[in-house]
Amino acid sequence: MGEVRDMPPAWFAGPPVSWSVGTASNKQGTIRMSALFSPGRIGSLEIENRIVVSPMCQYSAVDGVAQPWHLIHVGGLMMSGAGLVIVEATAVEEIGRGTHGCLGLYHDDQEAALAGMLDEARKLSSARIGIQLTHCGRKASTRTIPERWKGEPLPAEEGAWTPVAPSALAFDGHWPVPEELDEVGIERIIAAFADSARRAARAGFDLVEIHGAHGYLVHNFLSPMSNRRSDQWGGTRANRMRFAIEIARAVRSVLPSDIALGFRINSTDWHPDGSSLEDAVALARALEEVGVDYAVMSAGNIAPGISIPPASPGHQVPFATEIKKRTGLVAMAVGMIAQPQQAEAIVGNGEADFVALARPMLDNPRWGLHAAAALGADIRYPPQYIRARPNNWLGFGFVHPEATPPDTSLQLDRPRSVSWDRPMSRA
Ligand SMILES: Cc1cc2nc3c(=O)[nH]c(=O)nc-3n(C[C@H](O)[C@H](O)[C@H](O)COP(=O)(O)O)c2cc1C
Repeated sequence: MGEVRDMPPAWFAGPPVSWSVGTASNKQGTIRMSALFSPGRIGSLEIENRIVVSPMCQYSAVDGVAQPWHLIHVGGLMMSGAGLVIVEATAVEEIGRGTHGCLGLYHDDQEAALAGMLDEARKLSSARIGIQLTHCGRKASTRTIPERWKGEPLPAEEGAWTPVAPSALAFDGHWPVPEELDEVGIERIIAAFADSARRAARAGFDLVEIHGAHGYLVHNFLSPMSNRRSDQWGGTRANRMRFAIEIARAVRSVLPSDIALGFRINSTDWHPDGSSLEDAVALARALEEVGVDYAVMSAGNIAPGISIPPASPGHQVPFATEIKKRTGLVAMAVGMIAQPQQAEAIVGNGEADFVALARPMLDNPRWGLHAAAALGADIRYPPQYIRARPNNWLGFGFVHPEATPPDTSLQLDRPRSVSWDRPMSRA
């Protein structure tokens, strides 16, 4: 191992800090300002950087109630360095759950469990915490991901239920035919979104995101491929948007103004008979009018068998850029944003205001901390973990040879005069 110490990374005990980009300065000279690590704002909610943990279903709830796993999962992500962590798609009524393992927020026990989880999670970092509210529509009543290899729709013997949708059209041939919602059912679900939002506010969330994509109920109403109605909830674009807008209006009306409201928009169905990017922009503008603060732009999944362009790094970023250019909403990009420099460029070039990451955060729940070192930003670690900071741990540079962490006295683990194995000995 001695040999390894003879080959320190480039930044080890280097010259005074002097990076070429940016304008701010510190005692050591000019420092680079990272756009990704600059503070941001959604509505009146201030967020310490532009990194968001995208909602990710965990299939680990019992009767919709959060379990210890949820605290472990969300708690771990609170220590990722992200400024905002959004809790998984959470159903607004029982038949709106995707699986028996999905979270719900339509019962006092569910609210109490999430409130308890939030109390604990908040002790871990100052990241903001949001929740995504959903109704799975015709894609409800499926097996959880670990069980899905057996087939997606739940069989009767595993507790299947009849899903609901704008029209009685199954997602696919072997999927259950959903019950067509009548006016009473539609109003019930709009009210359920508002009720869950009220519960989310009481539980202490900073932000609520309405799930309007991925082939779930709100998307079912928006897309002409799943909505064949001829009443006020279907047909024209304005009619197909009505359900989404009424939900957003109802949710906004019950949320205190300091709680941010977002919407996951389907950018395109990737099909000539489906919704287009122009539909998405029209929806975004209408949502802005009823008080939605941000849009996160996803795409696809309205029906199986549609050929879509192969995913590539940042493949959905142009959709967020379109929203940023053509509406007043805060624009969030998601999808294969995995590298710090890539994320930095998206925010720095003004392609999106925030970047949301899902699988990169599962892969590396310290993604944001490592990204900070890669981009020369100085962010706080959980106090319990400061001995792994680049300024306290020689090994950091060997594990992350590409990093250019700033020379900093932030969160030193011992007096600066004591320098055994401390890499940043420039002072
Ligand atoms: C395990 C897992 C669960 C997910 N659950 C949700 C969810 O609850 N709500 C949602 O809108 N998207 C969900 N997604 C999609 C992600 O939020 C994200 O949009 C997608 O994975 C693309 O981002 P990525 O390339 O960073 O993974 C999930 C993705 C994963 C991997």
